[in-house]
Amino acid sequence: MIDLCHPSRLGSNLSKGFVPSVDNLETLYHANRSINNHAMSQPVIIEHLVKVYTVRQRKGLFRSQKIEVHALNDVSFEVKEGEIFGLLGPNGAGKTTLIKILTTLLLPTAGKVFVNGYDVVKQENQVRSSVGCMLMGERGLYWKLTGRENLEYFAALYHLPPKKRKQRAAQILKLIQLEDIADRTVETYSSGQKMKLAFGKALIQDAPLLVLDEPTNTLDVPSASELRAIVRQLNQQGKTVIYTTHIMAEAEALCQRVAIIDRGELLALGTPDELKASLRSARITHIEGVISAQAEEKVRRLPQVRRTTRSAKNGATLLTVVSDEGYEILPDLIRVLGEHGARIQKIIPEEPTLEDVFIAKTGRTLAEDTRVRS
Ligand SMILES: Nc1ncnc2c1ncn2[C@@H]1O[C@H](COP(=O)(O)OP(=O)(O)OP(=O)(O)O)[C@@H](O)[C@H]1O
Ligand SMILES: [Mg+2]
Repeated sequence: MIDLCHPSRLGSNLSKGFVPSVDNLETLYHANRSINNHAMSQPVIIEHLVKVYTVRQRKGLFRSQKIEVHALNDVSFEVKEGEIFGLLGPNGAGKTTLIKILTTLLLPTAGKVFVNGYDVVKQENQVRSSVGCMLMGERGLYWKLTGRENLEYFAALYHLPPKKRKQRAAQILKLIQLEDIADRTVETYSSGQKMKLAFGKALIQDAPLLVLDEPTNTLDVPSASELRAIVRQLNQQGKTVIYTTHIMAEAEALCQRVAIIDRGELLALGTPDELKASLRSARITHIEGVISAQAEEKVRRLPQVRRTTRSAKNGATLLTVVSDEGYEILPDLIRVLGEHGARIQKIIPEEPTLEDVFIAKTGRTLAEDTRVRS
């Protein structure tokens, strides 16, 4: 619980010249109670979160210069109890930074973050014991220990009694289907098996909130879908889940609400259906074939076209056109592309997906790396 009535809090106000009268003490008490109640009512509350890293960048052989990396810029949202909340964004968007702040591994530069009612800056122990977290994937495991020993070791760190540790480890190994290899050292596991074990580690303390940072990274398609099925199952049993991914389809299939972040900015927030509905006025057409950058540029200049992106697909070019018109635009598209030497193999007018929401908001596809920023 956030203890805003704590004497040290009043003290800090006093030191700033705040002199409490009986009246404003009462106001403060009620204000604090309402903040407490609100913070307690949601698993995660993020208010105006800013994270700026200061790093040294080399400049020549012997010189370097300090630069600031703005990883999160005024991000605010809440995660509701019982939902699977997706944090969706490309490389460098700020997903891991946000997760590290939520799990107290990093301090925010500014803003407020409450997890299960606890302040991540002032109540880090309470925050840690109320969150199950998968952050560094396989790097958070001990490779010289077996899978079972890893789980039992982390259970001991969470102060589970010895008998409970064994039970919990066995339950988790069954759930993540690693029983067969549970007694082999982790160094002999494949990277997918290590990822599954790292996911199992997040379940040890049976916390009400699970925070998973790209848990299906390096998993093959069947293993990724198995893991998502386990996440769904845990969610149905009452766990709230925060799930980061850069895969739109994954967020769309799994998450009840999604926040799209890019370059530290929150671009959109809502259910996948709401986000797609927000695009209803825009239409999306995919064109596959041999399409030059010049042809794309001419399409972009058509008055009804809002945006275009060009990427590679199966050895051909995929041109995605966001426009104000649906089928009506096709004759113009075909004419302009034909005039500029394009060879069209397929035209697919589409219902919008989350990927299209991202394209409409940023003008880029998720495939483009946005990691570099100074
Ligand atoms: N320790 C650090 N010091 C300086 N800059 C950092 C640090 N960690 C991350 N950054 C920068 O902050 C930004 C956000 O990085 P972050 O790791 O949060 O992104 P991400 O969305 O998790 O990306 P990815 O999908 O690649 O994991 C990037 O520009 C990154 O270069
Ligand atoms: Mg990351």
